[in-house]
Amino acid sequence: MESMQQYIEQAAELVSTAERIIVFTGAGVSTESGIPDFRGPDGIWRKYDPEDFTIDKFLSDSKVRKMHWDFLTTGGLNLTQAQPNPAHYAVAELEKMGKLYGVVTQNVDGLHQKAGVSENMVFQLHGDLSHAKCLSCTKRYPMEEIIEWMKKDIDEPKCGECSGMLKPDAVFFGEQLPWGVLMESEKRSRSCDLCIVLGSSLVVYPAALIPRYAHQGGAKLIIINMGPTELDRMADIRIDAKAGEVTPKIIEMAKAKMRAR
Ligand code: APR
Ligand code: ZN
Repeated sequence: MESMQQYIEQAAELVSTAERIIVFTGAGVSTESGIPDFRGPDGIWRKYDPEDFTIDKFLSDSKVRKMHWDFLTTGGLNLTQAQPNPAHYAVAELEKMGKLYGVVTQNVDGLHQKAGVSENMVFQLHGDLSHAKCLSCTKRYPMEEIIEWMKKDIDEPKCGECSGMLKPDAVFFGEQLPWGVLMESEKRSRSCDLCIVLGSSLVVYPAALIPRYAHQGGAKLIIINMGPTELDRMADIRIDAKAGEVTPKIIEMAKAKMRAR
């Protein structure tokens, strides 16, 4: 059984020679920023029913909509205050090193962009929670604005233009993923030379196809996750550790290897 240090060294070697790296992230990359994941020990699905997060329930049940708006503003998931952690900054370093071919994320927290990854290098498969959209006239509102409205104790925010129903920009269960984002993510994952998975159980599709496409395309696969994932047997290197702890070490060691060449 190899030691953690050996795994970090092997991963650094792959990063140092790769030219087109796809980083695939899930909720586990943001838990060290104080945002709960979904299926870990303190995950959201241990407190909330995923059934209440389907698009049908949101559209048909005003009580569910109220729960959502409370959850997103005053409740569990007010993301506007969250800050990137060392894992997000390590991923941003890859872009500075000229090695990043894209960050394909399932997260809706916008922390990769906050850590400095260029907007056009982040592919948000499940949308994001920075805005909400009117389902009638499609006007978009920054979430900060809605949080202010909710402080005035309204039950459910409505569109200021047409009083239509507002919906957070994240993709709900039962909704189509943004087609262009998915196609571009697939194209890049099939032609990358290294895919690094950070903090995902890899159980939700089609998102979890991304590391598979990379593997099928001949890329090396590194999985950094606390606890098992669905694709562990496919990984060239599997590190069971906190992303915020090991990812910066891997990037720093890769830089040292590149300087020594
Ligand atoms: N470092 C590494 N791994 C971590 C960390 C951490 N600091 N914190 C948690 N993890 C691991 C958890 O143990 C878990 O295996 O990250 C994984 C997160 O898996 P999920 O909670 O299933 O999150 P994710 O894979 O992103 O879920 C995918 O499911 O509910 C939907 O739309 C939602 O985008 C989400 C999708
Ligand atoms: Zn409207």
